Amino acid sequence: MFSDEAVPASLIERLIAVAHSAPSEANRQPWRFVAVNDPALKREIRLAAEAEERENYGHRFPPDWLEALAPLGTNADKPFLEISPWLVVPFRIDWEEIDGRRVQNYYPAESIGIAAGMFLMACHQVGLATLTHTSSPMKFLREILGRPANEKPYLLIPVGYPAPDCTVPDLPKKPVSEVFAVEPAAVTDHLVVMALARFALAYPHARARRCRRRRPRPGTQNGRRSLSYPLQSPAF
Ligand SMILES: Cc1cc2nc3c(=O)[nH]c(=O)nc-3n(C[C@H](O)[C@H](O)[C@H](O)COP(=O)(O)O)c2cc1C
Repeated sequence: MFSDEAVPASLIERLIAVAHSAPSEANRQPWRFVAVNDPALKREIRLAAEAEERENYGHRFPPDWLEALAPLGTNADKPFLEISPWLVVPFRIDWEEIDGRRVQNYYPAESIGIAAGMFLMACHQVGLATLTHTSSPMKFLREILGRPANEKPYLLIPVGYPAPDCTVPDLPKKPVSEVFAVEPAAVTDHLVVMALARFALAYPHARARRCRRRRPRPGTQNGRRSLSYPLQSPAF
């Protein structure tokens, strides 16, 4: 659970600046981060989110979704939307008006996903807790926050310090080996090592082969330098 301890607006702004440094397709920065700390607005958002969640948990979520959520113990009550000092809503911008022309943004989902992830990481780095919340559909956020039609709520992120007595579920992650692969498996390293080794070993011989093609010179045997030839490979 979140503490209601205040978090300065200047800190939230700096964290959003980190998110805003994210890469985006053609540098279009297809996002708007709206931060809310007004208690009346937070209450309005909570009530609207809970109304959607009651529908979700009541009949919209299919049984397998409810089954997946069961171990997390979530339900339609969202008190943290009022308790946490800030609600940050990243809006995804699929198109914009530029010089009176409607211009499409490409890869807005990927771009804002990266930016939102960077925001979460930045919050955690300064000791703030976040909850990646979605009470789908979330169009109530556009209405309550008075955003234009081209801004689509992407997430609803309560941000605040963790309450001193809070507990969090101990959720295990899959082992990294299950979600990380090197392709072609194990061959890449082997090939690189072999290529470097071959180059290192072959280099003097390559020089020697070139020498062989030249006319024999004094001090050489059939163009191959003998004892004086530097056999160590060049530094690389
Ligand atoms: C796209 C997305 C939507 C989520 N929506 C909700 C939500 O609506 N309510 C909630 O309590 N948690 C939500 N979560 C949080 C996940 O349940 C949580 O991240 C997951 O169980 C792993 O826990 P961890 O974040 O502590 O590692 C969401 C997470 C993601 C990435």
